[in-house]
Amino acid sequence: QNNYKVTVCGASGGIGQPLSLLLKQNPLVTSLSLYDIVHTPGVAADLSHIDTKSSTHGYIGADQLGDALKGADVVVIPAGVPRKPGMTRDDLFNVNAGIIKDIAATVAKQCPKAMVAIITNPVNTCVPIAAEVLKKAGVYDPKRLFGVSTLDVVRARAFIGEALGVDPQQVNIPVIGGHSGVTIMPILSQCQPTFKGSADTIDKLTKRIQEAGTEVVKAKAGAGSATLSMAYAGARFAGSLLKGLDGQKNVVECSYVQSTVTEAAFFATPLVLGKNGIQENLGLPKLNDYEKKLLEAAIPELKKNIQKGVDFANA
Ligand code: APR
Repeated sequence: QNNYKVTVCGASGGIGQPLSLLLKQNPLVTSLSLYDIVHTPGVAADLSHIDTKSSTHGYIGADQLGDALKGADVVVIPAGVPRKPGMTRDDLFNVNAGIIKDIAATVAKQCPKAMVAIITNPVNTCVPIAAEVLKKAGVYDPKRLFGVSTLDVVRARAFIGEALGVDPQQVNIPVIGGHSGVTIMPILSQCQPTFKGSADTIDKLTKRIQEAGTEVVKAKAGAGSATLSMAYAGARFAGSLLKGLDGQKNVVECSYVQSTVTEAAFFATPLVLGKNGIQENLGLPKLNDYEKKLLEAAIPELKKNIQKGVDFANA
């Protein structure tokens, strides 16, 4: 086909704008559809002046969500709201979860075969919500729904590259589990090139990867969470989905998907991506004793996060 429409939902945000810029540079994208409740006409006009082949269209407001999604091959979703004064974590959750529910319902109608990649936090819970909504609409294909946990891999590569004094692009490491706190499981024992260190060094690096989001939140001092690195990771993941659609071989990404690999119904592992989404789930990497403990800590947390999504979607 080599002719793909990508829709970004939440395209005007801190993640959405640089993500859209990076997608505008992807030669596999022919149509870039930008949806948000604010500013998309401007963002689209601006990006449309870039001399790459994709056409860029802005869609604004709920009335235009259907047109934005119509016939999309890949949908990337960083739509959400930041926490405002007086808002509890639960308030924030309910708003973001509601956004995902609405977008998933429209995906079901307008592009039921699309690959859907969710960035909106909490990813561990938002992906099961979308799954429930798509199931109810009778169009759910677990091979086509993804939580973008790529930033955890990107961060692990950056930190390990720095520690080993090698180009991060040469570092290969599976990061499995989920996309927050203890559910993020960098499998350092399987790192290539080999990462050797004391138990303490390994523990510190593992915790740094798990808490890397907080590093950015602190450094931004009230101005939000990771946006540029998240946009980079989102564009890399969407790019891999497109390569898979395009029939390229050996496209492997870790992503948070429906899974039977562990007791958690959704779990990130390395996946081979192809024309129909997940071609093969490569399963759990070999774990050492330290990593088995990480898994023990991650599973109950993941199960809780997943149940919260199922309950929200069915309430
Ligand atoms: N439909 C589409 N877009 C929406 C909606 C909606 N119903 N509600 C809000 N948005 C848009 C906002 O208008 C904004 O442009 O989503 C965008 C979010 O951007 P920011 O507030 O800058 O947030 P950002 O830092 O990009 O994070 C977005 O990703 O990593 C997660 O935790 C983060 O859930 C958050 C999301």
